[in-house]
Amino acid sequence: MATSVSIKISNEGLFETNGPENDTALDFYPVNYYFFDFLNVNNTLIFNPCDLPFKKVTIMKKCLPLFFLFVISTAVYSQTTVTVNTSGAKTIISKHIYGHFAEHLGHCIYGGFYVGDTSKTIPNINGVRKDIIDALRKLKIPNLRWPGGCFADTYHWKDGVGPKDKRPAIVNKWWGGVTEDNSFGTHDFLNMCEELGAEPYISGNVGSGTAQELSDWVQYANFAGKSPMSDWRKANGREQPWKVKFWGIGNEAWGCGGNMRPEYYADEYRKYTTFMSDWENTGGLMRIASGASDADYTWTETLMKNIPGNMLGGVAVHHYSVIEWRKKGPATGFTEDQYFTIMKQAWLMEELVTKHAAIMDKYDPAKKIALVVDEWGGWYDVEPGTNPGFLYQQNTMRDAMIAGMTLNIFNNHADRIRIANLAQCVNVLQAVILTNKEKMILTPTYHVMEMYNVHQDAVLLPVTIKTDDYNYNNEKLPAVSASASKDSTGKTHLSLVNIDAKKSQTITVSFNEGKYATIKGRILTSTKLQDYNSFESPEKIKPAEFKGAELKGNTVTVKLPPFSVVVLELN
Ligand code: AHR
Repeated sequence: MATSVSIKISNEGLFETNGPENDTALDFYPVNYYFFDFLNVNNTLIFNPCDLPFKKVTIMKKCLPLFFLFVISTAVYSQTTVTVNTSGAKTIISKHIYGHFAEHLGHCIYGGFYVGDTSKTIPNINGVRKDIIDALRKLKIPNLRWPGGCFADTYHWKDGVGPKDKRPAIVNKWWGGVTEDNSFGTHDFLNMCEELGAEPYISGNVGSGTAQELSDWVQYANFAGKSPMSDWRKANGREQPWKVKFWGIGNEAWGCGGNMRPEYYADEYRKYTTFMSDWENTGGLMRIASGASDADYTWTETLMKNIPGNMLGGVAVHHYSVIEWRKKGPATGFTEDQYFTIMKQAWLMEELVTKHAAIMDKYDPAKKIALVVDEWGGWYDVEPGTNPGFLYQQNTMRDAMIAGMTLNIFNNHADRIRIANLAQCVNVLQAVILTNKEKMILTPTYHVMEMYNVHQDAVLLPVTIKTDDYNYNNEKLPAVSASASKDSTGKTHLSLVNIDAKKSQTITVSFNEGKYATIKGRILTSTKLQDYNSFESPEKIKPAEFKGAELKGNTVTVKLPPFSVVVLELN
């Protein structure tokens, strides 16, 4: 008779057995690395004692030489399946879903990517760090949102053009009350975007500005002919207009942008956009309404109802993954409890965009108006000893999980989400780059965004996922998220994330048609969830070749370690 035993790994990392009484006993034994290959979804291991990959487990049974098979209570592998529908796909994943955000906040701009054109120590192009330009180019950064955030509704753009020594200093009232000299202004930002090959996304000042001021900004940046503003631009050294396409009409108008009610903001929006261009979305402008916070569906409904569709290019929404606003917890050294809560918050994005999109569908069934998630990311307590107003936080594998999962959500909603911006680019919140004087490091979030850039402007291949759960303290979340696309050269890419803190996932991926001859992939993971890249150890976490995928016909079997992101390429 076959003897079976199941072995559980307790939180302390010890095995418990529940084999037949008095029949089999296994020593309690600290978790051994090898065991991970044997984990299944219920924290249960299966193994054949003859094949034990470790020597120290003592099996005290007289008939030991005779038994050769342990049958476990549940199967070895998880039951996660991903089906990729390759036929009839037509939705393009806009590259602008992979956008970034640079606010006048802490050391994002000043002391971050902008060192000033007089810097002798840090190589720069017109004052912008060259190493950061190179890193962002490698990311294929598609657009950059500026100058805020909350800062946008305090910013008067005319203070930031013309000779730098004549520009007035201002106090950044939202972020640390610091005085800044306006040396990074419109020319600096738009020239930087040109250098990056990124589309600029300017947030206009509605809260404390005027419709005239915003309309002047549009004329300054975009008008080729003779006009007061274009003449001024030319006098300031720029002959050709930049042709800025994306314009935000204020930011968080419900809060730092003016504490407005949605009905009032809808009217303001109509007024501001009228003077920016015209009644229609002509002139190449995409005008984006300041959107809801999280689940404020009334905000979206009110804007959609009260703003004529032809005046509206996009409606924004902001969602941060935060534990509690007054007790956000550390960016590193967090507990699994804190991790799970952040994963819950990150998964909430799926519900939020689904519900906001459903409201938009009522008023815009043809999906002409974009849902613009122009602020997203993880938000924790600032690093000890840093200015609380500067929002400087480290970036761990937890952030890589947020990024991978969120970008999968965005890809899968590409029919409605056409712009998104991670908050923020450098040294602020879930940054892709951190700097320390002349040093610069790339965060795990950077690596996820770089791995995922294969999806930019590719055709979305819809996926159906049946995933195991990530269970924690009687709560559960889907463990695996995925998205797939086919690029213009015919390559298919599949991105997979396993957020489970402890368990690997074996995933069966089926493609409903299409023949693939080769598969390759890259993985981002680390030893601990709390791991991060530091200035001392800048490459602790970086993508590596992934060898855990096997292609047979139209099916791929993937072994996804705990807290990992994998991008596969099939050809
Ligand atoms: O990204 C930081 C801040 O978060 C932005 O300024 C604001 O829009 C949001 O509340």
